Amino acid sequence: MHKTKTRLSEAIVEQLDKNYPGHALDVPQIYDMLEYPPNPTMGDFALPCFKLSRTLKSAPQQIAEKLKDGLSISEIREARAISGYLNIFINIDLLATDLLCRIFAEGERFGSPRRGEGKTIVLDYSSPNVAKPFHIGHLGTTIIGHSLKKLHEFAGYSCVGINHLGDWGTQFGKLIVAYRKWGSKEDVEQREIDALVALYVRFHTEAQNDPSLEEDARTEFAKLEQGDPENIALWRWFIEISIREYKKTYEHLGIEFDSYNGESFYIDKMSEQIQMLRDKNLLKIDDGASVVDLEPYGMPPCLILKKDGSTLYHTRDIAAAVYRKRTYDFEKCIYVTSAGQSLHFAQLFKVIELMGYDWSKDLVHVPYGTVSINGEKLATRTGNVILLKDLFAMAIDKVNDIISEKNPNLKGKEKVAEAVGVGAVVFHYLSNNRMRDINFVLEDALSFDGNTGPYAQYTYARTCSILEKASYAAGSPPEQIKLSAPEEGELVLALARFPERVLSAIDDYEPSVITRYILELCSAFNRFYHNCQIITAESKESRQLRLSLVYATNTVLGTALELICMKKTEKI
Ligand code: ARG
Repeated sequence: MHKTKTRLSEAIVEQLDKNYPGHALDVPQIYDMLEYPPNPTMGDFALPCFKLSRTLKSAPQQIAEKLKDGLSISEIREARAISGYLNIFINIDLLATDLLCRIFAEGERFGSPRRGEGKTIVLDYSSPNVAKPFHIGHLGTTIIGHSLKKLHEFAGYSCVGINHLGDWGTQFGKLIVAYRKWGSKEDVEQREIDALVALYVRFHTEAQNDPSLEEDARTEFAKLEQGDPENIALWRWFIEISIREYKKTYEHLGIEFDSYNGESFYIDKMSEQIQMLRDKNLLKIDDGASVVDLEPYGMPPCLILKKDGSTLYHTRDIAAAVYRKRTYDFEKCIYVTSAGQSLHFAQLFKVIELMGYDWSKDLVHVPYGTVSINGEKLATRTGNVILLKDLFAMAIDKVNDIISEKNPNLKGKEKVAEAVGVGAVVFHYLSNNRMRDINFVLEDALSFDGNTGPYAQYTYARTCSILEKASYAAGSPPEQIKLSAPEEGELVLALARFPERVLSAIDDYEPSVITRYILELCSAFNRFYHNCQIITAESKESRQLRLSLVYATNTVLGTALELICMKKTEKI
């Protein structure tokens, strides 16, 4: 589609040259103006000429007619000028021939923008705080982050996924105190992270009546900072247990991190940056603390050192950014967190710019809205917090129930239940623009009828079973395609839209573009499936063509599902 759209834009500019010499419009501008009409009777593309009317000093309908008259390239079947729009009907047979040829040749690479070769992107995502619950608030950073990684890898970038663990800070003082007072090795070994979170929660409850606990926690954290071997050993143990637990959740999603360098990794890397801030006269003392004044930029000051000289979240993030630039020489470093941290990152990027690092412009914060879950039914032992692992477990359980009822003899039931249950959560989450606050309803997510993950995976499985039944071997596509049903044409158009959707998902850091595309493709495919005979088609040519469309759908849908961290399911 991309290619066709470019060809159309070129042809339109040629007409503009002829009819409106000196018009100053270029191909990219026209390209951006070309729309996909909501209804196929209005063409496959439309140019809203009212957008040109001021520049060309002419009425929209008149422009549309002038452009229509000379427009003739092989891609165009017909052009009409209607109500100020230039409606273009493209030669679908030609498009289909060209498209299938590309999908067959490129396979799973079809749709890749191929612009990342030789460039590195660092992605900082998921990044839970050790010993605090890994809850549904982290769903966004984990899934959006990983999809962005997949999308960039697909575009040819080499990507480094970093889990910037919250593994340093006063919470460890609290945990150490709580563990010594109320914990036991056996309990932590057995219940692992649940035991740690329980200790953390208990600390807070007890500290309400006994404020001296806070003081104890500060002392223990100070000891940890000074390298006290016992505290260090405990701290390491807590982190190890936590990572082991996180990895179980990541496995469900097929996520592997390239690095677990969390905040503590930067302890010895901060002094250089603090010195630089001092040398550049950027540090001001404010009530004993050292801050960078950001008032000229309309932001509150950025805290670098507390009164007692200890460092902060910002300080570690400055050191982390410099370390990553030096280590990976990134083209971009992308941070995915909830929108609640937007100010943190705006301040961080500004301070790095003020320090004179010209790559501060390559730091990108990708925020997202809040997630809530419907009803008390889903509340867990930990009170209001719903853990990510519990959410996935619930989804998998429900799918297991459905399979036992509908398809009890399914081979590899467990794997399918995992793929569909986890996929449902992912798909549901990624159905909306990331900034939208969402309320999660598990029943809706798991439905096979609606616009859901199971529906998409089911459609994928359907393409697999048709190909299997027909013993289809993808050699090469038919050479001269002649479509015979409108549903074939709609499916071709849907397939052809994939490359540009990938581009906009990458440009807007918005995986939901792919989710919505998957629904479009599934619905075009299912209409085709219901209205056209495939294996039993009227002629050999038609059967071959339709099977090649099924194969193309299978390829593109499979790629698209993987881009949003979903597993391909061959059977459901
Ligand atoms: N640990 C933080 C949290 O859970 C997120 C860290 C994001 N990354 C960063 N470099 N600050 O809120």
